[in-house]
Amino acid sequence: MVSEQLIARRYQLLRELGRGGMGVVWEGRDTLLNRPIAVKEVLLPPGVPPADQERLLLRTAREARNAARLNHPSVVAIYDVVEEDGRPWIIMELVRAPSIEQVVASTGALPVRQAADVGRQVLSALRAAHEAGILHRDVKPSNILLDDEGRAVLTDFGIAMAEGDSSLTSTGMVTGSPSFLAPERVRAAEAGPASDLWSLGATLFACMIGRSPFDRGDPMGTLSALLNEEPDYRRIPPALHPVLQGLLRKEPHERLGGEEADQLLAALAAGRPVLEEPVAKGGSRTLLIGVIVAVVLLVSGGGVAYMSLTSAAEAPGKVAQRTATSPLPTVPTATTTPTPSSTPTPTPSRTVAPVRAWNSPDGWSIARPTGWRGARGESYTEWTRPGGIGHLGVQAIYSSTDPHQILRDAEETLKGQSDALRSLGRRAVLQNGAKAVEWEFTWTARAGGDAPWAQPGQTYHEVRRAVQAGDTAYVLSWTTTEAQWRRHHSLMRQVIGSFTVGA
Ligand SMILES: Nc1ncnc2c1ncn2[C@@H]1O[C@H](COP(=O)(O)OP(=O)(O)O)[C@@H](O)[C@H]1O
Ligand SMILES: [Mg+2]
Repeated sequence: MVSEQLIARRYQLLRELGRGGMGVVWEGRDTLLNRPIAVKEVLLPPGVPPADQERLLLRTAREARNAARLNHPSVVAIYDVVEEDGRPWIIMELVRAPSIEQVVASTGALPVRQAADVGRQVLSALRAAHEAGILHRDVKPSNILLDDEGRAVLTDFGIAMAEGDSSLTSTGMVTGSPSFLAPERVRAAEAGPASDLWSLGATLFACMIGRSPFDRGDPMGTLSALLNEEPDYRRIPPALHPVLQGLLRKEPHERLGGEEADQLLAALAAGRPVLEEPVAKGGSRTLLIGVIVAVVLLVSGGGVAYMSLTSAAEAPGKVAQRTATSPLPTVPTATTTPTPSSTPTPTPSRTVAPVRAWNSPDGWSIARPTGWRGARGESYTEWTRPGGIGHLGVQAIYSSTDPHQILRDAEETLKGQSDALRSLGRRAVLQNGAKAVEWEFTWTARAGGDAPWAQPGQTYHEVRRAVQAGDTAYVLSWTTTEAQWRRHHSLMRQVIGSFTVGA
């Protein structure tokens, strides 16, 4: 039975996550690195002539290896591509999140702002890929996974078979989802970056109505519709019309480019009107504030009732920068009343500072992430992200031990308290001019371990930095679940880099 088999003597298949036109996706485990993975078993659709099978499988493996070069927060990371049983298996990042197809099917149309935000993330991934000379070829709702933090990730890069492939056209077969195919791929078997943008347009359309605007139930009817018919926009919110119409131009050279599409989506995601509509009136302003509050809560993890650390010690400058009140409101509308501003359309993104200054009574300061719950002990100050998926710690050690030694000791301690500790490297760095050492590693939490906020069995990714300042060493640690690591990488850099001792 395949689920007991190890692929390439290393990758264990645990359970089936779903199957589509090009194979089966499994949840699995990398037994060497001891981390969760997703495995795509590539199976050709029935009807491919035997003579073409091997060539197509080889090409699929090559495309997947090519896509493995991409490193983008909205692209599922490809870890490995191996061959077993005469077919390619693609080993990739496991994203524990439903696809957009599933989200829309279970909860209905996405709100316009969320759709626009998803659109921007996918667009950003596509633009990065196109710059690297990689086409996706199969952008559709089931290939976009959406986690409950709002991160959208694109999977299945480049592995869909091109319609122009002789073996496919000769059998009259259309792979996967003609509903999301660009007309030029059907007409002339040409695919370019613009073809992916068309598919993004059809995907955003589907975020509103649950299916592609060209879906006619059968492949031939669908192909005819996408070649000859204009979509029916009556069920689409007017704010989305310009970007959808621009992306769904049948001629690729008339289609909206990546840059323009991003501008339109950015305005929608920020709640700025794309159409010439006045927004400064009372009613819509209240609505806008409500939306801003929703965004604040979303960005900060949807949590409530934070911070036992008082905000009194915060740097006044930082506090003044924020328009939203602090601490974050338990009941959004009751406490969040942005100061009236002469600008009728505030940009919500500016009101959400990702970090807030924390000045310790012990003389150090750090810009810690907004919305994380803080606690202070004798020599340890920490902030935990609600849900236990992120943690920031600052430990003061009153000794003049070499920072290298501090981290070596920490490693010994951790070995006994966690599972699968894996070092990813250690390097000397400067922390505001002071000597420091940084160590990056992954570990799996154990029940009853030293980190009460961590979930047993969960794999975490951590950066730990030891900074020597006079007779005190500070150990900064930043930890997130492995799945959240890349997404919060720049925030981590900002937070760790902000640490200073004495002002
Ligand atoms: N990296 C991944 N992590 C978790 N789930 C995934 C991943 N890639 C794909 N999936 C899930 O597996 C399902 C099946 O994928 P696939 O075989 O590509 O079929 P399709 O995309 O046509 O639905 C997808 O709909 C998605 O929900
Ligand atoms: Mg897929």
